[in-house]
Amino acid sequence: MANTLTGKHILLGISGGIAAYKSAVLCRELIKRGADVRVVMTPSATRFITPLTLQALSGHPVQHDLFDAEAEHGMGHIDLARWAELILVAPATAQAITRLVHGQADDLLCATVLASSAPLCVAPAMNRGMWDNPATRDNIAVLHERQVHVLGPAEGDQACGEHGPGRMLEPEQLAEQVELLFADAVLQGVKVVVTAGPTWEAIDPVRGLSNRSSGKMGYAVAQAASRAGADCILISGPTRLTCPQGVTRINVSSARDMAEAVQAEMNDCDIFIAVAAVADYRPVTPQDEKIKKDSEYLNLELVRNPDILASVASGEPRPYTVGFAAETRNLETYARQKLVSKQIDLIAANPVAGENSAFDSDDNELLLIDKASTLQLPRASKPVLAHQLIKEIAKRYGSR
Ligand code: PMT
Repeated sequence: MANTLTGKHILLGISGGIAAYKSAVLCRELIKRGADVRVVMTPSATRFITPLTLQALSGHPVQHDLFDAEAEHGMGHIDLARWAELILVAPATAQAITRLVHGQADDLLCATVLASSAPLCVAPAMNRGMWDNPATRDNIAVLHERQVHVLGPAEGDQACGEHGPGRMLEPEQLAEQVELLFADAVLQGVKVVVTAGPTWEAIDPVRGLSNRSSGKMGYAVAQAASRAGADCILISGPTRLTCPQGVTRINVSSARDMAEAVQAEMNDCDIFIAVAAVADYRPVTPQDEKIKKDSEYLNLELVRNPDILASVASGEPRPYTVGFAAETRNLETYARQKLVSKQIDLIAANPVAGENSAFDSDDNELLLIDKASTLQLPRASKPVLAHQLIKEIAKRYGSR
């Protein structure tokens, strides 16, 4: 990859965990890729690695005091918040994550994050039990909702002697993921329509058929498209997610609503990406009143829903068309069959069985298949994966 970080202002925030020793290498990796790096440490981070080490590597004084009389205007956090084009907190301990989630501002790092409008990345690093704790899981979910880039953690041997998820990603991996976030505006002026989330097929006024899609993958794709300069329309089934910045959202409920909303956007659409988990069937006759449980058995007659993706791919004008395939087995074979039967340009296949199911998880992995190639995008957070996917789509769209 080219030096996409040349001249970029990256604020590296280090919190107090044993992985802080890796932040020295991370600082070098970012500088090697052309970034101008400044470092802020929490007081506890200075117990794991000295500010002097980071000062020598970054070429700038390292700040760790919220009340630094030497700082310009005497307000170091404001100066740093304005200077940063991206903030990377690595390692982000469970404690640092909690403080960031709650917007605490009583150390320089958290105050700077709070004052800054720069994109925020956190690289969690902690014991596996702490990572699995519901408190941490909830905090991470909040970060995802706020479109914070959660990079990692990796799974493996831990400093505490245990084995599991919670290791900070390696410095090189982190630097690579940061590079992706600064990728060029590869879709400038391009109109991208993305579908996301589940659909809801009413049985009666209080019951319906749906599925486990949270919308996270589709929203991440819409956000990545928008960050790549696209004019992005997100057509979303029912989710709890907030609309990514810069994206226009159209809320729908059923598959037929979604089909209608998609068709209305197709005239000037350049790229269509179908991430939604659309119900294949709906009840033939939804009831106007709540169905009473009078009998032991109840038969529901279902009818096929329109295939939104296939109808876009066979329409005129036809955008560059990307589908997703959610499979519990035979991932590649079934995905290839969908590529051909729906006559689309590219398919992104993801597993939805077992522990690594793409449904409702914060991370995912994708197998990209088109007529000419197959490419595996390894497991990463959905926002990072979405950036990689958009880059691959832009490459193919540009060389049509
Ligand atoms: O929302 P998350 O919790 O983040 O989960 C993400 C995801 C697993 C939902 C997502 O990554 C994914 O795989 N989406 C497609 C799910 C799916 O319905 O796959 P499918 O194999 O049944 O459908 C194939 C393609 O046809 C999909 O692009 C789908 O959007 C599209 N389709 C399907 C049926 C239909 N009636 N109309 C369609 O457009």
